Amino acid sequence: MEEKLKKIQQDYINKISSSKSLKDLDIIFIELFGKNGEVDQLSRQFKDLAKEDLKIVGSLFNLIKQELEKTISTKREEIKARVYKGLEDETFTFQHQVLEAKKRKGHLHPVTQFENEIVKLFNKLGFVQADAPQIDTDFNNFEVLNIPAEHPARDMWDTFYIDKSSNTQTTNHKLLLRTHTSNSQIRILKNNKPPIRMMTLGRCFRYENVDARHEHTFEQFEIVYVDKGVSMANLQFLSEYFFKSILGKDIKARLRPKYYPFVEPGVGIDATCVFCKGSGCKICGNIGWLELAGAGMIHPKVLEAGGINPKEYSGIAWGVGPERMAMLKYGIEDLRLLKSGDLNFLEKF
Ligand code: PHE
Repeated sequence: MEEKLKKIQQDYINKISSSKSLKDLDIIFIELFGKNGEVDQLSRQFKDLAKEDLKIVGSLFNLIKQELEKTISTKREEIKARVYKGLEDETFTFQHQVLEAKKRKGHLHPVTQFENEIVKLFNKLGFVQADAPQIDTDFNNFEVLNIPAEHPARDMWDTFYIDKSSNTQTTNHKLLLRTHTSNSQIRILKNNKPPIRMMTLGRCFRYENVDARHEHTFEQFEIVYVDKGVSMANLQFLSEYFFKSILGKDIKARLRPKYYPFVEPGVGIDATCVFCKGSGCKICGNIGWLELAGAGMIHPKVLEAGGINPKEYSGIAWGVGPERMAMLKYGIEDLRLLKSGDLNFLEKF
């Protein structure tokens, strides 16, 4: 086991030091620390070790793990510094002239630009914007959406809870940072009469391990459409309308069964992979499709909670992550860049 650990240590130190881009490092990070990564697999073998061996191997394991994490983050900084330096050298002379000529002019953040585009798209179909708070009750974020306390589905949406002692409201419900824009659903349903066409946009939060594709703070966009005779066909149409408008005319949408407690049936919505156009590549895992949205027919219990008779009306709810879409559209490799506040990056948009 010690041998194995040392080999992994050596191999990965070499790999890390010869990696050239942030993407290389992300791949290495996942190989090491991801689910079923080297670290995960090794630690699973610990149970077969004798107690004395475990002591030695365990502490060696921790040391090596820390060393690898540190080496990756040092390398990450090194690559970043090099990339930015390169950019600076190239653009310095030019920028200098421009700056002298006029003061630097700001512009909207790429995600904001992109979100404005999405809002416009759905405005055209008659959807209007609704709002819901980023700090909300456990009830609005979970319970009314058919996710009671202790429901296993809560694990997918684990979040940050507000300390009770700092909670000045006299509510029995715990306050939390909302995990999705679906907390707007109950408000939209309660405050409006069908036909309802509304959309919500905004910041959401999750207790998440941050990497190139996951952030603890991120954006979601969601629509709620309720009327007589609304069906899965509307879902298919709206998804395809959205994907084609944003990613190109050749992009199709497909619905796959997926479980969300507040819709029935629920679907994951895939778009044709924008990189291989469906033939299968590394990024889509050779499937030819990328999962981009979650949706479904609003659960009768949720409609009822919103004061709408599910026998008379049906509705769909549909949500996407604008940042993930923006990454695909603009070819951004690392989600973390979007919140870096780094002008070298932001000024490219
Ligand atoms: N709220 C879900 C999520 O964050 C997405 C979703 C929205 C699913 C609407 C179904 C209907 O994962």
